[in-house]
Amino acid sequence: MPIRYLPRLAGVLILTMCAPSLTALAADNAQLTIKADLDETGKPISSDLFGIFYEDLNYAADGGLYAELVQNRSFEYSPADKHNWRSLTCWDVVERDAGKAHLTVDVAQPLHPNNPHYAVFGVIKGEGVTGMRNSGFDGIPVKEGERFNVSLFARQVAGEAGPTTVRLETQEGDLLGECELTAPDSGWKKYEGQITATGADAQARLVVCFSKVGRTALDMVSLFPEDTFRGRKNGMRKDLAEAVAALEPKFVRFPGGCLVHGDGLDNMYRWKDTIGPLETRKAQRNIWRYHQTLGLGYFEYFQFCEDIGAKPLPVVPAAVCCQHSGARVTGEWGKGQRGIALRDMPAYVQEVLDLIEWANGPADSPWGSKRAAAGHPEPFNLQYIGIGNEDTITETFEERFEILFKAVRERHPNLTVIGTSGPFPDGEDFDRGWKFARSLGVPMIDEHYYRPPEWFRNNLHRYDSYDRRGAKVYVGEYAAHDRDRKNTWRSALAEAAFLTSLERNGDIVHFASYAPLLCKEGKRNWSPDLIYFTNTGVRLTLNYEVQKLFGVHCGDHLLPSTLDDSATQAEGSPGAGQVSVSVVSDSATRDVIVKLANLSDTPRAVRLDLAGIDAFKSPADLLTMSGDLDTTHESEDQDRVRPHARKLADAGATGFEAPAHSLCVLRLRRSP
Ligand code: AHR
Repeated sequence: MPIRYLPRLAGVLILTMCAPSLTALAADNAQLTIKADLDETGKPISSDLFGIFYEDLNYAADGGLYAELVQNRSFEYSPADKHNWRSLTCWDVVERDAGKAHLTVDVAQPLHPNNPHYAVFGVIKGEGVTGMRNSGFDGIPVKEGERFNVSLFARQVAGEAGPTTVRLETQEGDLLGECELTAPDSGWKKYEGQITATGADAQARLVVCFSKVGRTALDMVSLFPEDTFRGRKNGMRKDLAEAVAALEPKFVRFPGGCLVHGDGLDNMYRWKDTIGPLETRKAQRNIWRYHQTLGLGYFEYFQFCEDIGAKPLPVVPAAVCCQHSGARVTGEWGKGQRGIALRDMPAYVQEVLDLIEWANGPADSPWGSKRAAAGHPEPFNLQYIGIGNEDTITETFEERFEILFKAVRERHPNLTVIGTSGPFPDGEDFDRGWKFARSLGVPMIDEHYYRPPEWFRNNLHRYDSYDRRGAKVYVGEYAAHDRDRKNTWRSALAEAAFLTSLERNGDIVHFASYAPLLCKEGKRNWSPDLIYFTNTGVRLTLNYEVQKLFGVHCGDHLLPSTLDDSATQAEGSPGAGQVSVSVVSDSATRDVIVKLANLSDTPRAVRLDLAGIDAFKSPADLLTMSGDLDTTHESEDQDRVRPHARKLADAGATGFEAPAHSLCVLRLRRSP
């Protein structure tokens, strides 16, 4: 069945106003009773539990969330990114009628040393149309009436300078709109204009045209939709950013993932390369085998966090590169970890401290002033920083982590540093990572697990026995990997049950983020992912819907609850067997939210034995997801599994039905 992409988010939730009779169900199905006292304050849990993990893999940044539409805008593509990529990849020459032109690349007198390559377009015969054409990220999506901001740097190298015409064209060369930029000077200068599209094409091209005989140097040729998320310049693609924002993430972890520690020491993600004017940023190869312009850099990440009300959680390399560095060439997986030379550690420590000053320092401090110059004089209020990602726990790692951790703790005692426990949820690195982190007093540890759905169902008590006096946990990357690593309802439901267990343990688990977040169709490095997209559409998975329910209906206190199961005659913990429950309250609204994951293939009638229910007379909201466990994100059927909403006039009396294989989220609203 073909995949249908949602043009926008509306319509995801199906709302029914009529409440079916549930009393009959109780007679047929073994009854579950959730007991809780709503008058109790409960135990404080993390109010920031559910956030997102963002990494530039699967074309999540360039060609994805970053709204730039020109691919290889700065002519920095090279075989280091991908074997067949060159400075002129995605560019070609247009010669129409009698026009004659050529396109070359040069490095003499670049726009900036960090951005060494630029194009030189030469007009030999300026008749008809002569121009250089960019194919975008597999085409440029253009809608009629849409406005686009054009910018480029140019300098006239030889011959007579004339105005530059920038055109949007269909693949066939039909005009979709154009603008004229003033003739270039002899020195590098930025030129800007705007195009309003007079037609539509999902596969459009950008053509930069010159008509006077001569040669013009060009760099940073850029096209952005005017309508970015929150109207930001150099901003995010609106529909994708809106899908991310709708998760109501309480934090955003960036920029990865493996991208952080990089494929070799020279490939680490260095935050300073990602700030300042775009033309000065140091693009580099992406560990996921493509290219990072770094147009989406630290300033943009922090600003995005602020825009969506999420706390920034940057992760910096622990001065070691990925243990798999070079393995694609050497075939030696797990043996490539290298550390920054100890003599260079003081400079690296300073780089990390500079990041903190850049984020939090006053606008007149050396690094805070760079933030202010970018348009954000107020501090970003950075509270957390991750050091290291999934590193194998070796002496090389430990030595460097300790230096970094102690330096940050000494200078910024109020900042929470998050350490790592290696790539897996158990085993040698995990044990050594935790032991080492405990010995240093690291306040929070990052755990990762990509495991089958059964693992999640079998680990509903994983955190019940974690030492409450020790470090907090950040479940930094997790996903249930079902057969063929597909996004099935089985995987999403297992994650949902697991998330109820995280809420029950929200006093020790502080953060959790599903990984990875984004994947462009046709550019997949990793699956499953939370959100799939094309140039023109967004497809939300069932795993996404689960994350959204937990993000939107989170709480900050856990109310003690028990679960009575008439089928087994047992009274037990809310994470018992085939059913997992959490009951949380939210101090801002004083609402209580009951979440129940029914993992069994039997529908259950759920009775609510809730002391204090009288204070919740407003109709409750019940959101239910249920369906065939094999439903995947590639099937139209997944729309049937998506949340179905209805109102319950008197939830305390009626209870509700938890269908087989379902997640139910009941929001009890306080009476006004
Ligand atoms: O989420 C994809 C990858 O999984 C991350 O880059 C890495 O940290 C983990 O192995």
